[in-house]
Amino acid sequence: MEECKEYKVQSKNMKILVCRDYDAMSRKAGELVGAVLAANPQAVMGLATGSSPVGLYRELIRMNREGKLDFSKIRSYNLDEYYPIQPDNPQSYHYFMAQNLFDHINIPKENVHVPDGRGGSVEEACRQYEAELDAIGGVDIQVLGIGHNGHIGFNEPADIFPSATHVVDLQESTIRANSRFFEKEEDVPRQAVSMGIGSIMKAKKIVLVANGKEKAEIIRAALTGPITPRVPASILQVHPDVTFVLEQEAASLLSL
Ligand code: F6R
Repeated sequence: MEECKEYKVQSKNMKILVCRDYDAMSRKAGELVGAVLAANPQAVMGLATGSSPVGLYRELIRMNREGKLDFSKIRSYNLDEYYPIQPDNPQSYHYFMAQNLFDHINIPKENVHVPDGRGGSVEEACRQYEAELDAIGGVDIQVLGIGHNGHIGFNEPADIFPSATHVVDLQESTIRANSRFFEKEEDVPRQAVSMGIGSIMKAKKIVLVANGKEKAEIIRAALTGPITPRVPASILQVHPDVTFVLEQEAASLLSL
C-alpha cells in the first residue's frame, strides 16, 4: 500500500486520507499542518492532546530542527485542560504539550495558550479564552483527535452542541479511557475546560487524526452517520475545509 491514499467524499467539503500505519498518518498530517505554517509564519494553530497527534507533533519538531519551519511568530491555542488541575501536574495538558511539542520548538512561551484549569474564576477564564479566539476570528489550522464516544476536545455526547469554551463533566467512558495516563482511575479529574463546538468550527482548516481499530466504529459514525450532538465529531461533515487523516485500521469500516 502507498503511504496514504486520498478519497474524495461526494458533495461534502471533506477529504479522507487513509494511511498505511501510524507513522505514515503522522507524516501526512505533519505535512498538512506544516504547509499552513510555512505559508503564514504568523499563523494560529489549534492543538489537541492525546496519543493520536503525538507523531504529528514529532514531525513538526523535526521540521523545526531541520530549519523548515519557524515558530517564532506562531501562536497556539489548545482545545482543553482538566479541571481542577495545576499546570505543573504531569497529567495536565499544559505539561503534556510542553513535553510533546512546546519544549522542542522555538515558539515563544507567551504565544502558547492552554485553557486555565487551576480553578478560581474558571467561568471568567472560559469567557476570556473564547474572547481571544473570537478576536483572532478562528484559528488557521486546528488539529483534532476523536474520542471513542465521538468527542472532540472534551465536547462529550449531549443533547445540544455546546458553542463556546465551557466547563464540562467528563463521561465515565472518557474517564476510563484517560485513566491509562493516571496511577488509578480515581485520580482522573471529573471535569474539564474545553473549547466548544462553535469555537472549533470557526477554524479555517481542520486536520483530524485517528488510528487503531478501536476508533473504526466512531469514525464511521462521525463521517457517514447523521449529524447529531450524540456524536459531536459528526458536525465536521459541514465544516468547509476538513481533512481526516486515518491510519487504515481506523478507516476499516468506511466503504471507500
Ligand atoms: C484532547 C482532545 C481529545 C482527544 C481524544 C482522543 O485534547 O481533544 O478529544 O483527541 O480523547 O484521544 P487519543 O488521541 O488519546 O485517543
